[in-house]
Amino acid sequence: MKSIRDLSLSGKRVLLRADFNVPMDEQGNITDDIRIRMVLPTIDYILEHQGRLIICSHMGRPGGKPMPEFSLVPVARCLQELLGQPIVLAPDCVGEKVEEMVAALQPGGVILLENLRFHKAETANDPDFSAKLAKLADVYINDAFAASHRGHASVVGVAERVLEKAAGFLLQQEIDFFHKAMDAPIRPLAALVGGAKVSSKLAALENMLNKVDRMIIGGAMANTFLKSLGIDVGASKVEEDLLETARQFVSKAEEKGVKLFFPVDFVVADAFLPDATIKNVTYRDIPKEWMALDIGPATTILFKEALQDARTIVWNGPMGAFEMDAFARGTMAMCQAIASSHALSITGGGDSNAAVKKAGEEHNISYMSTGGGAFLELMEGKSLPGVEVLG
Ligand code: 3PG
Repeated sequence: MKSIRDLSLSGKRVLLRADFNVPMDEQGNITDDIRIRMVLPTIDYILEHQGRLIICSHMGRPGGKPMPEFSLVPVARCLQELLGQPIVLAPDCVGEKVEEMVAALQPGGVILLENLRFHKAETANDPDFSAKLAKLADVYINDAFAASHRGHASVVGVAERVLEKAAGFLLQQEIDFFHKAMDAPIRPLAALVGGAKVSSKLAALENMLNKVDRMIIGGAMANTFLKSLGIDVGASKVEEDLLETARQFVSKAEEKGVKLFFPVDFVVADAFLPDATIKNVTYRDIPKEWMALDIGPATTILFKEALQDARTIVWNGPMGAFEMDAFARGTMAMCQAIASSHALSITGGGDSNAAVKKAGEEHNISYMSTGGGAFLELMEGKSLPGVEVLG
């Protein structure tokens, strides 16, 4: 994969695909600008090298039609503040008006195109739409790691049509960190996996069995594994149709010599509510009508020990319903354990990153990926179309 450093940019129209799909509150304020800030090194590099910068991104899932709540206006404002120079937001991402604006763009100047997903053609990877986008560019740079698992026009179609293309610094960094952790790790390599469903992470779990030395499973997905081992998990969330798969997974781990860790106690609640009645119980004592919503204190000690001498840690998914304080303790404890370890630590996925922030440990994690689905696809061992197309 070529780096942006391998290309000459001076005076050229540089189309930069970024992922500025940032969370916003109801008033349209950006609540976390990390995805914008992480692209700044690439933007600065292009501007320093006198590129004529055209940035494109999607925002949300507007379904192929313009919707004001998915406009990139707040992103343009944020980018302008971060860069300290004017950013022109184009009224669309393709078309005559945009072409005129690009033609008038000077070296060192920046245009942000409006949300790509205001056109159905973007997600359909429509050839005409890709050609229209490609027409705006002499050079194409992909720095949208978090969207690189999507075979969309701005990720794949354009890259196929622009001869000079390369990865930006963020995309390169994401791929490098991930491979360092999963393909050439300093061992022991431990995976900490949580979240609600086995089904959404099954492919990742299966692939990681071939790579890790130990796997620690928490969150609601642990219930399915425990039930498959004959444990009564009360009214906890369980994927009944995956019990056999879960059993087979445990056997496979044994065959491969991967040590699996499951919760041994829980914080259980009589309702999925922040003010529910709660108590700590062992895995054998979950009351019939109650549900496990966090790992318990004994599990926290067990999991911490499993992480203690790990030299590489990959984390995806919380240990419980951490968005409610009553069920956040286990996830917070794991954040702190990872943050205080000497391992190379990588987290990915919106929930894990939000948990790290909630714990105030952002600066003590080696790398927090900006990807959700893209990170998971790497965990599944898949290659990303947006990376493949860069050659
Ligand atoms: C993400 O937030 O994971 C990326 O921006 C991709 O968004 P999507 O799942 O809507 O394609």
